[in-house]
Amino acid sequence: MKVIGVSGSPIKNSNTDRALKIALAATGVKTEFVKLSKLNIEPCTACLGCKTTNRCILKDDGILLTEKVYKADALIVAGFTPYSSIDSRTKIFLERLYPLHHLHALMSGKPGGAIVTSAIPQGIPGMPDAYETGLSAIRNYMLEEGMNFIGSVSVPDNLPCVSCGEDGQCGASAIKMIYGSDATPNSIGINSAEDSPEVVAALKQLGQDIIEACFN
Ligand SMILES: Cc1cc2nc3c(=O)[nH]c(=O)nc-3n(C[C@H](O)[C@H](O)[C@H](O)COP(=O)(O)O)c2cc1C
Repeated sequence: MKVIGVSGSPIKNSNTDRALKIALAATGVKTEFVKLSKLNIEPCTACLGCKTTNRCILKDDGILLTEKVYKADALIVAGFTPYSSIDSRTKIFLERLYPLHHLHALMSGKPGGAIVTSAIPQGIPGMPDAYETGLSAIRNYMLEEGMNFIGSVSVPDNLPCVSCGEDGQCGASAIKMIYGSDATPNSIGINSAEDSPEVVAALKQLGQDIIEACFN
C-alpha cells in the first residue's frame, strides 16, 4: 500500500508542504512526497498523443510522475492559491495526468484528497474564497476521472506579507486588505499550518480516511 502526495508550493518547507506531510504521515503506510518545483513538467499540449498508449509524448519528468501516480494506491494533492486560484504547477500536474484518462479511465476508483493553503480565510466580506476556488480545480479533476474523492482540508492565514520585511505597512499590504487598516503582522500573528489544532486534526483525519478507503 502506497500513498503519493504532490505539493505545488515552490517554497522550501512551506505550509503547503508541511500540511501535506502531516496528512501523509497519518496514513501509517508507505508514502512518497513529491515537490513539483523540483521537477521539469511542461503543460499538456492537448495533442492526444497519449490516446492509445496512455503515455505522454513529452520528454520530461511528467512521464515518471504520471507512472508513480498510476501505481500508487491513493493520491493527495496540495496546492496554494495565488490570486485565489490553484497554483500553476498543481494545475499543470493535474492536466499532465490526462494520459491516464483514455480508454481505460486508469484513475477511476482511486481514493484522492486535497489540501489547499491560502492567505485569505473563508468568509471575509468582499474577498474571494481562495480555498473553494483552489479546491474546485483539484476536486474537479478527481471527480471527472471517477476517483473516490475522500475530502479536503483548508489551511488558511498563510500571509507572505507577514514575513516580507515591510512590516505590513506598504501600500499593497494583504494584511490591511484582509484584516483592515489597523492590522499589523503583530496583531494578526505569524500563522503556520501547525498553529491551528483544528487544521492539524483535519489533516490527520484526511490521511486516515484516505487509507481506510484504500482498504475498503
Ligand atoms: C503570487 C502570489 C499571489 C498570491 N495571491 C493570493 C491570493 O489572491 N489569495 C490568497 O488567499 N493567497 C494568495 N497568496 C498567498 C498564498 O496562497 C499563500 O502564501 C499560501 O498559503 C502558500 O503558503 P506556503 O507558501 O507557506 O505554503 C499569494 C501568493 C503568491 C506567491
